Amino acid sequence: MLYLDNAATGGRKPDAVVSAVTSAAKLCANPGRSGHKLSLACAASVLECRKALSDFFGGYGFERTVFTKNCTEALNIALFGLLSPGDHVVTTCMEHNSVLRPLEFLKSRGISYDVCPLADGNVSPETIARAVKPNTRLVAVTAASNVTGARPPLREIRAAIPDRVLLLADGAQGGGHFPIDMQKTGIDALALAGHKGLMGIQGSGALLFSDRANPRPLLFGGTGSESYSLAMPDFYPDALEAGTLSFPAVVSLLEGVRYLSAKGKEIPRTLLSLTEYLIRKLSALPGCKVYSAPNACGIVAFSLRGLPSEYLAGRLSEEYSVAVRGGLHCAPLMHRALGTKEDGLVRVSFSHFSRRAEADILADALRSF
Ligand code: ALA
Repeated sequence: MLYLDNAATGGRKPDAVVSAVTSAAKLCANPGRSGHKLSLACAASVLECRKALSDFFGGYGFERTVFTKNCTEALNIALFGLLSPGDHVVTTCMEHNSVLRPLEFLKSRGISYDVCPLADGNVSPETIARAVKPNTRLVAVTAASNVTGARPPLREIRAAIPDRVLLLADGAQGGGHFPIDMQKTGIDALALAGHKGLMGIQGSGALLFSDRANPRPLLFGGTGSESYSLAMPDFYPDALEAGTLSFPAVVSLLEGVRYLSAKGKEIPRTLLSLTEYLIRKLSALPGCKVYSAPNACGIVAFSLRGLPSEYLAGRLSEEYSVAVRGGLHCAPLMHRALGTKEDGLVRVSFSHFSRRAEADILADALRSF
């Protein structure tokens, strides 16, 4: 199968990730629980991964880097843990349901939110700033749209909103694809998926938060620390990590971050060039409308002659063995803003392992539809 669905999950992992996960699956202890040598060695790797992630994303140290099973869990910890009744949130129509659904639920807890509209395929800092109210506690914005790959200007958004307002960035698609520096950008909480741009396995994710964002726990249970107490520890990362961590997921992230650090700018360059190439090819196809500009997320969304996207994606899979994602991509407000709510879009998503020849195969297949 020609796998062009890397925004849903990274199809291919670096060899170092695969071998770290394989070793961990063969033998690992519970990090941070028992005191024997193997448990301590695993705990040391977990700490190393926290530090590596914090360094990679300009974070606030290993204590403020917690592991989650995916980006959704990280976003839920941030939203449930930072907001209180009476708080207001500003978000955007580019968000995934992992932001929108928690916010909709939180209305039942006395939290209100407003959604900023799309303008020229993106959101503007001025619109976000205008939506801020005296009780706005948080602005929640994606680092990159999972539908089109467009990137909201996070730095400008930070500059446009009052300092007292926390900035939460959804790094599901952006993380690992292009540099994100929390401190330089002024991000207070960064939610990450491990299994996409970060090259880790499914079941890996993280939340990084600043020294002025202090999320309350979402999950309660054992932490291996302060076990005499019936309350959760009041220090991070323990306060937010009840239950056994997935050690294979953590080491996959550690190797993923090492891999990305070694590659440097090569990955965003490759993805930019692949999207540029495919956009040019698709734009030459009669009846094809492209919704993406070249981007470092590797995403190209398009429609073809008004055909339903699920139908196109289904035919590409069945007849040509090409894997892409049709439908709404769990981003209903983005599709509504793009005018594609009924039929959705076909989303192609490259990884840096992809080649131009793969874009040619896809474009040739579409030509015969
Ligand atoms: N959020 C993932 C996607 O965009 C699963 O496909």
